[in-house]
Amino acid sequence: MKRPFAMLTATAHAVPKRVFKNDEFRSIGVDTSDEWIQERTGIRQRYIAGPGETLTSLSTEAAREAMAAAGVTAPELDAIILGTASPDRLLPSTAVEIQAALGATRAVAFDVGAACSGWLYGVQVAEGLIATGSYETILVIGGEQLSRIINWKDRNTCVLFGDGSGATVVKKATKGRGILSAYMRSDGTLADLLQRQKGAGAAPITPEIIAEGSHWITMAGREVFKNAVRSMADASDRALDGAKLSAADIDVMIPHQANIRIIEATAKHANIPMEKVFVNVDRYGNTSAASIPIALSEAMKQGVVKEGTTVMFVAFGAGFTWGSMVVRF
Ligand code: ACO
Repeated sequence: MKRPFAMLTATAHAVPKRVFKNDEFRSIGVDTSDEWIQERTGIRQRYIAGPGETLTSLSTEAAREAMAAAGVTAPELDAIILGTASPDRLLPSTAVEIQAALGATRAVAFDVGAACSGWLYGVQVAEGLIATGSYETILVIGGEQLSRIINWKDRNTCVLFGDGSGATVVKKATKGRGILSAYMRSDGTLADLLQRQKGAGAAPITPEIIAEGSHWITMAGREVFKNAVRSMADASDRALDGAKLSAADIDVMIPHQANIRIIEATAKHANIPMEKVFVNVDRYGNTSAASIPIALSEAMKQGVVKEGTTVMFVAFGAGFTWGSMVVRF
């Protein structure tokens, strides 16, 4: 058996109504500036969920649009896979809540915990399910409400992240189109560099944990930066090797949107000019698992990705987790 088994069809995204610009951090007492954030990260603004906006509601909105564009109805879905690090509840999975909201009665639904690599892992799990021959139509979502799990007093992290969701309908490959290569890796020895240390099973939430703030995301920024550049370089090499393609064969690169400097370093390593790299980190910030499907959704709407386009995806996230894919649309 040989690839492609599966292909990516319609992709859509949804973000909260509220735009939060860099200048607004000062007004909530965070000692930072628009200049610092733009220079170090390339981020100008992000979307932040308000009351009534949840991961389930945003993901359901994105899913409905993607399914309508793909001509797929909810009962036709065989599986719903949600990559997320910020579920609506710790139990049950948010994927089952989306299943209920959509009315996807036949689907199996589950979350994938791979932080920023969650959508990319999810697509590769979907590819595997489709390769068994028992699954045909799978909804893969990457969605986050990071604004609910960041410490809004910690300038090292709170300026980086945003909320949103992106959904892709994955189907059986048709001739010449689909996933040409796929790669996933992780390294749990580096888990402490980007984590929510307490507040779950190993250290259930207490007033002390709340007071010290160890239930929020903490990050060793420079170490994360170095590992992201190294791992995304590895992932881009593997993507090309696996597909037996060279950099010149790639029409568009869609990397995880964490930081413009990480994106530029990855593109440089892969020998892909920045004109071919899709960037929207300036408008969304780092939306973790949602970043690649939101970028793909925009790239498809703008006609940057269309039938026949060869795209390289590269992801990196907490864990650490990383991976890549080459897909012919
Ligand atoms: N505003 C102003 N100053 C700040 C801010 C801020 N928001 N945050 C940190 N600083 C200060 C620091 O306190 C430090 O001050 P000091 O020298 O007086 O101690 C100074 O700026 C420099 O801090 P560094 O951490 O060395 O700054 P650096 O150039 O490394 O940039 C950043 C920090 C942007 C976090 C960078 O390390 C980075 O991008 N790391 C990758 C992190 C990332 O993208 N994580 C996303 C999650 S992982 C993922 O998506 C895969």
